[in-house]
Amino acid sequence: MVKEWQDDGWRLKFHLMPPAGWLNDPNGLCQFRGEYHVFFQYQPEDAGGGGKTPKVWGHYAGNSLLHMRFEGIPFQTGRLDRNGSYSGCALIENDEMQLYYTGNIRLPGDYDYIHDGRESNTIRVVSRDGAHFGKKELLLKTADYPAECTRHVRDPKVWKENGRYYMVLGARLKGGQGAALVYDSCDLKKWKFLKKITTPEAFGYMWECPDYFTAGEENILSVCPQGLEEEEWQYQNIYQAGYFTVKGDIREEQRLEVFTEWDKGFDFYAPQTFRDEAGRRILIGWAGMPDAGYENPTVTRGWQHALTVPRALSSRNGKILQQPMEELKTLRYGKQEIDPTGSFLLEDGSGDVELQAGDGGREWQILIGNGCALTCHKGVLQLEFSQGWGYGRKIRGTRLEECRNVRILIDTSMLEIYVNDGEIVFTSRFYPEFASGTGTVKPETRTLLLEFNCPGMI
Ligand code: FRU
Repeated sequence: MVKEWQDDGWRLKFHLMPPAGWLNDPNGLCQFRGEYHVFFQYQPEDAGGGGKTPKVWGHYAGNSLLHMRFEGIPFQTGRLDRNGSYSGCALIENDEMQLYYTGNIRLPGDYDYIHDGRESNTIRVVSRDGAHFGKKELLLKTADYPAECTRHVRDPKVWKENGRYYMVLGARLKGGQGAALVYDSCDLKKWKFLKKITTPEAFGYMWECPDYFTAGEENILSVCPQGLEEEEWQYQNIYQAGYFTVKGDIREEQRLEVFTEWDKGFDFYAPQTFRDEAGRRILIGWAGMPDAGYENPTVTRGWQHALTVPRALSSRNGKILQQPMEELKTLRYGKQEIDPTGSFLLEDGSGDVELQAGDGGREWQILIGNGCALTCHKGVLQLEFSQGWGYGRKIRGTRLEECRNVRILIDTSMLEIYVNDGEIVFTSRFYPEFASGTGTVKPETRTLLLEFNCPGMI
């Protein structure tokens, strides 16, 4: 294991990652009295993320989302969340930071999935200063969820609308269908079940990490369905993350329209959004995958996974655009002009590359380091690794009618690719110079060669 982080060329430069150990979902995103807070699912002592130690929350805070300090573990597990402080959200209300999350309790014995041996407590913890956290309050327990639910009910997202409070929870129904449960409350303590939201036909068996919000003109229900059948260029990861546009009101009559995947890359799951004090709707995702069937090579260095950069959401023609939040541009230095049919070296293995497509933007290719190719060919945009990272697979892609622009954030071992102002995004970890097959990790170089074969692009 590498002890000195500075020796580890895969530590990220502008993405949040665990100080050591394992990270999954972003939790409790908020801005409180000017300061940004990003919590996350965390196992400090187990980079492999096994069940040996319960998940806790980790905490980053800072005046800017670009420069955050690690604040440690806000609260330890206890009676209500013995086997894990699972995912949840933040609500800023009454000048308090209120955290809502799932307390995971494992029961001994063998169970099938309907009677799965777990309890899921919905818990609230309040902080008055964003640094100290009070007593855990139990808001909902297993017996409070509708009888048609299995024991898989979790990941509360709470918001306020017209003076009332609402909560969505992700659920797996006994009939094998994913759903979101909507609750309401007038005091944030007593919660009443309002309704269940699902699709007419099962769309996966479980919906994790639901979120409900407005982006631009659209009402959005974001969920992470598990159990979708893979299709060509669709649903290619083991689990998916995407959004339904909602026609009507989630609390009354509503219709879920098309489901769009948030991200087409290998590593993206469990996004959460929040509104910052400037009124921006910001999304952060986990740049990772649950039960992915592969292990990232950073595990041998004592850490695994990261979060995406914060993305500002807007809408255009019914689609949500995701764009790296504007502040990221302030990190730029040493600007270079790109020769669209040439190459250049990224000296520290990280960069922020922008291309605009002219008339000829239909057929092009960008090679990133050895082993990664982004190719637009015959109406398909494809990301290909010579090593297989996602679920043993090497290619992810999507159909693309027209490419107008591309922005690539390259960060030592992470790529985020934004196409057409963020209408399509690919997030993937990558490990330049990783030698697979031999079981060894070569010392990676910090320079990265980018090669462009992009006629018609500037
Ligand atoms: C999603 C998820 C959530 C759960 C958490 C546990 O990745 O499975 O449903 O609350 O991770 O870490």
